Amino acid sequence: MCGIIGIVGLRPVAGRLMDALRRLEYRGYDSAGIALIQDGRIARRRASGKLDQLDALLARDPLDGLIGIGHTRWATHGEPSTANAHPHIGRHVAVVHNGIIENFKALREELIAAGHQFTSETDTEVIAHLLSDHLAAGIEPRLAVKQTLDRLEGAFALAILIDGKDRLMYGARRGSPLVVGLADGECFLGSDAIALAGLCNRICYLEEGDWAELHGDHFALFDAAGDPVERPLVHSSVSGVMVDKGNHRHFMLKEIYEQPTVVGQTLGSYLDPLAETVTVPGLCFDPKALSRITLIACGTSYYAAMIAQYWLEHYAKIPVTVDIASEFRYRQPVMTRGGLSLFISQSGETADTLAALRHCKAEGQITATIVNVAQSTMAREADMVFPTHAGPEIGVASTKAFTCQLAVLAALSIAFGVARGHIDQTEQAALVRVLNEIPSRMSEALQAEQQVASHAADLSRARDVLYLGRGADYPLALEGALKLKEISYIHAEGYAAGEIKHGPIALIDPNVPVIVIAPKGPLFEKTISNMEEVIARGGKVILMSCKEGIASQGRTAGNSIEMPAVHPLASPLVYAIPVQLLAYHTAVLKGTDVDQPRNLAKSVTVE
Ligand code: F6R
Repeated sequence: MCGIIGIVGLRPVAGRLMDALRRLEYRGYDSAGIALIQDGRIARRRASGKLDQLDALLARDPLDGLIGIGHTRWATHGEPSTANAHPHIGRHVAVVHNGIIENFKALREELIAAGHQFTSETDTEVIAHLLSDHLAAGIEPRLAVKQTLDRLEGAFALAILIDGKDRLMYGARRGSPLVVGLADGECFLGSDAIALAGLCNRICYLEEGDWAELHGDHFALFDAAGDPVERPLVHSSVSGVMVDKGNHRHFMLKEIYEQPTVVGQTLGSYLDPLAETVTVPGLCFDPKALSRITLIACGTSYYAAMIAQYWLEHYAKIPVTVDIASEFRYRQPVMTRGGLSLFISQSGETADTLAALRHCKAEGQITATIVNVAQSTMAREADMVFPTHAGPEIGVASTKAFTCQLAVLAALSIAFGVARGHIDQTEQAALVRVLNEIPSRMSEALQAEQQVASHAADLSRARDVLYLGRGADYPLALEGALKLKEISYIHAEGYAAGEIKHGPIALIDPNVPVIVIAPKGPLFEKTISNMEEVIARGGKVILMSCKEGIASQGRTAGNSIEMPAVHPLASPLVYAIPVQLLAYHTAVLKGTDVDQPRNLAKSVTVE
């Protein structure tokens, strides 16, 4: 959600700022801009729309300098336009910002009364004017930045350039992540490690409230009180190559195809295939003593949590509550003593999930998080981290992070079941074999891509699409509908198959495709009965099942998608693949921007 880059360089920075913005475009892409010190003065270029617009502008009207900041925007205050694009400038500074300044209205009025003229509708512009005022009053830059930060309420990550200073930049972090990097006499600021991929591999994650003064060959950090602090410089494993599309047309397709590998890697850190046991390294609580598990997440990660509820109840027999983070944080949920709150997040930065984590910690819950970004704020704040090893996910629509979350959740469900005495050694061994086979079954599922694609034309003409599933495949129906909505802009809904006769069946007509997710398992017959109810009302069904399930219904390739036969524990992971591919091919046919769908952004760091 808004990408930030800053470079205090020894070599020209304009090209490198643009390269970094390309890597960051997944965070927001409604406008972009850069500002440099050129001939001693701040100069900026901004353009509405995708980064290509800014590229074209720079080709016509280039910038040259050794220090600069850049931004790719996901609009919060003010429509996407050139005027609202960052950097925003005051008399002496240029600022880029990720987050929301909650008291911006009061500050804006105060600044207007003092004679400042605003040229945008953004909350960010107040920062540029406030800081300019302090500098104009003769306050030296470090103190001026501190005094400005002290006036701001809300969440932000900032990069600040000061007129005339070509070896000085400031960064600040409150609520939104920011990293500082160092290499060969140059310093960098980035909204995440991906921003700095290929620029440097020694990075430092700012802590909450920290701010940074960058000088090129070194930097200094301060905490919220303004006292100098040290934070560890760590090696960043994100390389520029890893964020490349390879031979694939879109990041989303590449990431769908990576799933057998990354799910295998993730499972590998929780399973001992020789001993046929699940091992959870460094568990900081006793699963036997847990009174309840509360699973909290947003979006696709929330659907992973919903699936896990079925598994944890079934295998570990623990009471489980699942909550949407933005709802949880404003209810007054009753937390039981000895409860585990488990937060699921690809980015580890989602504002609502992070706020829920902090709330649960304050309530005395044991907190744990399943995150894909190992150095994220959630990973650093939770009592315990269960990492996924999906690698950087660039496509805005989550795919591989989702199935890796499921891999961890499946392993935890079994581990907790064993610890609580509900799974014996023989059953554990059998379940470990099921988990071990998932990557191979996912590879088989990928072979159905052409068959899946053959249904995309029908979907691309539809106005509405329904997805039905039961048990752990019901949340997958919700995820299928979300994937289709977000990348193809077709209205879609997921329902528990048994629920449609309570209302949604009224929607059925021959123009509404109905995707029925029905792996062969204990709930197969029940789901098929619901499918029959749809067919009886003229509904146009596409059945996703195994060969045997499809044959038992006399269906053909024209109205089904064949998946490998799988154990019920494996089905949400394996069936995620046709669900993702169906959305992908439908979106490609519709000609939408698959990797950067409209209005969305990855890593939602505002509430
Ligand atoms: C949908 C999608 C979002 C995220 C949600 C939570 O494809 O990607 O719904 O799942 O914004 O993000 P994280 O997992 O980073 O907390």
